[in-house]
Amino acid sequence: MILILLGPPGAGKGTQAKKLVAKRGLSQLSTGEMLRAEVLAGTELGAHAKRLMDAGRLVPDDVITDMIAKRIEGPDQRNGIVLDGFPRTEAQAKALDEMLARHHTKLDAVIELVVDDNALIDRISGRYSCKKCGAGYHDHFEKPKQAGICDICGGAEFIRRADDNAETVKSRLQSYHAQTAPILPYYRHRGLLRQVDGMALPIEVEHQIDGILDAVSRSSVA
Ligand code: AP5
Repeated sequence: MILILLGPPGAGKGTQAKKLVAKRGLSQLSTGEMLRAEVLAGTELGAHAKRLMDAGRLVPDDVITDMIAKRIEGPDQRNGIVLDGFPRTEAQAKALDEMLARHHTKLDAVIELVVDDNALIDRISGRYSCKKCGAGYHDHFEKPKQAGICDICGGAEFIRRADDNAETVKSRLQSYHAQTAPILPYYRHRGLLRQVDGMALPIEVEHQIDGILDAVSRSSVA
């Protein structure tokens, strides 16, 4: 199964992608995480990307599609892929179709997480993650069971993203509405687009996505 999770910054794409990895064995390809890994490794690409990410602007299409092309051809994708944060422009959407066609495969579904812009600032400004294993938490919506200790690995150090501040989030939202939301009709016309209520609790969003994916699996077997 090849699936795209689409939605504005803070919509819950990463949260739901990780659940799909755990439950369905899908491989998560997150272009945001790949770029942050480049920043951490101190590469030239990372330095260039960091300037754009900190300003809430998109990284150029050719850089992103090269990164995805390398990963999509990797050996870990046997159970399928959940794309998180890619594609974000029409050029990226078309490049993805070409990549998949080269591998004699195609998209199964595009799921849009629909969330009010006003909720996103709160979600993003409260977000943090475990420094050791990357598990995601939120000051109000998703706290670790024991305060200050990661549920997954027991780590006690947490980090916040450099671009998770109110000013950058506004630019990220503008980029989403100007460059990413316009690709929704591209998928709607092909009958691939499904919407879920991203304002619901994470567990409810998860159930909505499960319902969609079960229906997609049934229709591909029938
Ligand atoms: P990226 O890392 O992709 O960031 P994003 O799209 O802005 O999305 P986020 O990771 O901020 O949010 P999310 O939807 O994953 O939400 P999450 O699950 O964490 O990209 C960062 C930057 O990299 C971009 O700005 C750009 O510069 C560059 N970039 C990346 N990809 C690119 C591309 N393809 N082309 C060009 N440039 C690219 O949830 C957020 C918080 O809310 C969490 O704390 C979570 O616990 C909480 N939460 C989740 N679901 C719910 C819920 N249902 N109810 C309440 N709280 C919830």
